[in-house]
Amino acid sequence: ADGDAEAGEKVFKKCKACHQVGEDAKNRVGPVLNGIVGQPAGALEDFKYSSVLQERAAEGLVWTNEELSAFLASPKKYMKGTKMSFAGLRKDDDIEDVIAYLATFE
Ligand code: HEM
Repeated sequence: ADGDAEAGEKVFKKCKACHQVGEDAKNRVGPVLNGIVGQPAGALEDFKYSSVLQERAAEGLVWTNEELSAFLASPKKYMKGTKMSFAGLRKDDDIEDVIAYLATFE
């Protein structure tokens, strides 16, 4: 995808209620998202994921651009039972941009 990381920083405001990124990021309602793009799902030892996310992780789910896009468009449809209470991003551009922003954090 050709997302715009700068635009994605603004989109990420919608995620900030629950997620942190950057050097001093801590798990909150949601897990820290540093390094999430291309990372196996459910990889943080110190965050308690839902059982469905743990199952998908055990099956080998990796947060590629494609999987992240599908998840962020409609978390509850993509992963029935996820505890991420977020309606999803309606615009494809917002999805691509927020993924580009997340990809700037290792
Ligand atoms: C999980 C991204 C908004 C709460 C996740 C994961 C990603 C993600 C990639 C999987 C993490 C992993 O596998 O380690 C985002 C983005 C958001 C957003 C980009 C904004 C567009 C929110 C909001 C909330 C939230 C607003 C709280 C209301 C959670 C929770 C989980 C999670 C609780 C764990 C899900 C589970 O275990 O089923 N998020 N999120 N997220 N997120 Fe979000």
